[in-house]
Amino acid sequence: MDGQVCIITGATSGVGYQAAKRLAQGGAQLILVSRNGEKAARLQEDLKREFGVPIDVVLADFARLTDVQAAARTILTNYPHIDVLINNAGVHNTHRILTESGIETVFTVNHLASFLLTRLLLNRLMESAPARILQVNSQGHRFGGLDLDDINWERRRYKGLQGYGASKVAQLLTVWELADRLNGSGVTINAVHPGEVKTNIGMNNELFYRLYKRYLIWWILKDPEISGNAIYYLAAAPEMAEVSGRFFNLTIDEKPAAHALDRSLGKRVWKMSEELTGFPAAESKNALYGINIETIRARVGIIGSDC
Ligand SMILES: NC(=O)c1ccc[n+]([C@@H]2O[C@H](COP(=O)([O-])OP(=O)(O)OC[C@H]3O[C@@H](n4cnc5c(N)ncnc54)[C@H](OP(=O)(O)O)[C@@H]3O)[C@@H](O)[C@H]2O)c1
Repeated sequence: MDGQVCIITGATSGVGYQAAKRLAQGGAQLILVSRNGEKAARLQEDLKREFGVPIDVVLADFARLTDVQAAARTILTNYPHIDVLINNAGVHNTHRILTESGIETVFTVNHLASFLLTRLLLNRLMESAPARILQVNSQGHRFGGLDLDDINWERRRYKGLQGYGASKVAQLLTVWELADRLNGSGVTINAVHPGEVKTNIGMNNELFYRLYKRYLIWWILKDPEISGNAIYYLAAAPEMAEVSGRFFNLTIDEKPAAHALDRSLGKRVWKMSEELTGFPAAESKNALYGINIETIRARVGIIGSDC
């Protein structure tokens, strides 16, 4: 990865931290997209000191799609070349929480933000080809939960695992769509389950959940170093250069759940994701996907065609 420009989101903890470390060790130049400036600055210093590679920080809270737009603008202004984009930032909530834009938070952070960042950087990635995109997904997609008429869980009781599953199913479905669109461009896109590993995911939830995680399931979780190594392999291995549109369990090519392979649903998810992230195609219906689309437009804004 010597000198390769890699963007990684959510590197201040867990899977992303291990991946960033491994990439820096491999000589990559890193752009850390993080919501927490202090944690990111500490990581930047540590990686620079240990591996002597250039590390930059771009701040963005993925619960705010306007932050994602601003981060993409900063990256496009400062980096004429991008080799690898790793969308890793993720969250698991046991309760339904809406963002300032009025969209369910887990769906926003895990799917819409990674979709938007990828879309906004896509032309730059294609100009930089060969390039690779990795979506850090999850076996949690097998929990299902995606209902395009009720993205905000207004009509169903919110269940944490299914809310998480919905976000990961949506992301996987857009991976297949994007892989088709990128065919022949020299840019690949794959999804990866980073293993069941000891990280902070879910530790933002209530005490009961935190105790359950620390004392009941912690001992079956593995060291997240395996996640960093798997991500490094998928980002760097020459034999992966032309592999696209696949789901990897660590480095093993695996078949996702049937509901995550429904291509007609995938096309609807693509359209919905464009509409909810402010692409101009948004239809002027009042309520779409169980969300008031005008509210979203007012708060997220509409992205110009130059993006
Ligand atoms: N751990 C597992 O066993 C496992 C299994 C399957 C899939 N995954 C996936 O692996 C990815 C990384 O998760 P992890 O397990 O490493 O969890 P983690 O330790 O909690 O790390 C999550 C990272 O995402 C960042 N993040 C969370 N919300 C954000 C937001 N609103 N805006 C910007 N950044 C945000 C966090 O930033 P802060 O440091 O500021 O909190 C952190 O850097 C996720 O996509 C997750 O779904 C994990």
